[in-house]
Amino acid sequence: MVKKTLVAATAISLSTFALTSCGSSNAESGSGGDDDGTITMGFAQVGAESGWRTANTKSIQETAEAEGIDLKFTDAQGKQENQIQAIRSYIQQKVDVIAFSPVVETGFDAVLQEAKAAGIPVILTDRAVDVEDTSLYETFLGSDFVLEGEKAGEWLVENAKEADVDGDGTVNVVQLEGTTGAAPAIDRAEGFADKIAADDTIEVTASQTGDFTRDGGKQVMESFLQSDDSIDVVFAHNDDMGLGAIEAIEAAGLEPGKDIQIITIDAVKDGMQALADGKINYIVECNPLLGPQLMDLAKKVLDGEEVPERVVTEESAFTQEQAKEVLPDRQY
Ligand code: AHR
Repeated sequence: MVKKTLVAATAISLSTFALTSCGSSNAESGSGGDDDGTITMGFAQVGAESGWRTANTKSIQETAEAEGIDLKFTDAQGKQENQIQAIRSYIQQKVDVIAFSPVVETGFDAVLQEAKAAGIPVILTDRAVDVEDTSLYETFLGSDFVLEGEKAGEWLVENAKEADVDGDGTVNVVQLEGTTGAAPAIDRAEGFADKIAADDTIEVTASQTGDFTRDGGKQVMESFLQSDDSIDVVFAHNDDMGLGAIEAIEAAGLEPGKDIQIITIDAVKDGMQALADGKINYIVECNPLLGPQLMDLAKKVLDGEEVPERVVTEESAFTQEQAKEVLPDRQY
C-alpha cells in the first residue's frame, strides 16, 4: 500500500513552465492518489539544456511508463524558482514520492521541509543539494562529479606533453564551467584542479560559465579566443559546451583536437561522434540513464525498505580510439 499524507493546499500557478504527466493520474483529479497501489511520482527536471538532459528525461519517462508509475513531470527551464514551485505543486497534489535533479545546490531547505512535513519522501537524482539536515531526502542517486573532474585532470597530466600544442613549456587551459552553483560545475572544477596540481606546467588561464549549453560554450570560447592566442586545451564541463567550443575554434580558422585539444564530460552521441572524428581528445562519461534505478529506489522507499543514502552511478571514460569502437552501439 502506497503511503499517503494530506497537506494544506496552496494555490500555485504553473503557467510559466511545462507540467506534463504520463500514465493514470489520480492526484490530478484531487483524490490524493489512487488506492490500487499505483505509485504517483512528481519529478522536477532541471530543463532541456543538453543532450545529456534529453537522454535523462527520456530514461525517466520511459521507465515510469514501462513500470506503470504515474509520472508527473515538470521542466523547470533551468530556473530554481520553477523547480521549487513544481515541488510545492506536487506536495499539494499529494503525490506518493517526489524526485528532482536540483538546478543549483543551495536554497532548497524550506521546500524540502514542507515535503517532509507532508510525509512525502524525496529522492535526489543526478545532482546533490547542500542542506544541513540530510534527513530531508531519502537517498541521492547520481554520478560522482568530483571523480569525473579528477579523471579529466588525470588524463591531462598523463598527456601534458602532447597537450602543450604550441610547445612553449606551459599547458594553457581554458575552462568552460557548467551552471554557476550547480553540483556538477562545482565538483568537476574541484576534481580537475586537484589532479592538475600535480603538474606545474599546467595552468587554468581562464574559467567562465557556459551554462551547460552549446550556445553558451560557443560564446564563451569566442571571447576566450579573442583575448588569448596561446590556448592549448579546453576543459568543458559537458559535451554540449565542448561542441559549442568546436564551432568557435573552427570559425577562428583553427583545428579542434589538434591546434587546441578538448576534454569534455558526458559521452552523449554527438560528443562521442566528435571524439571519433578527432575534434575532441578525451571524454569522461556521465551516465544519464537513471530511470530504472530511480524507479527501483522509489518502490523500495515506499515499501519501507532501507535504501543507501548515496547510490553512485558506474561510469567510464573514452579516448578517440575507444569512441570509434563503442559509437555504433551508443544508446544516447
Ligand atoms: O547534472 C548533469 C549535467 O547536467 C550534465 O553533465 C550536463 O550535460 C547537464 O546539463
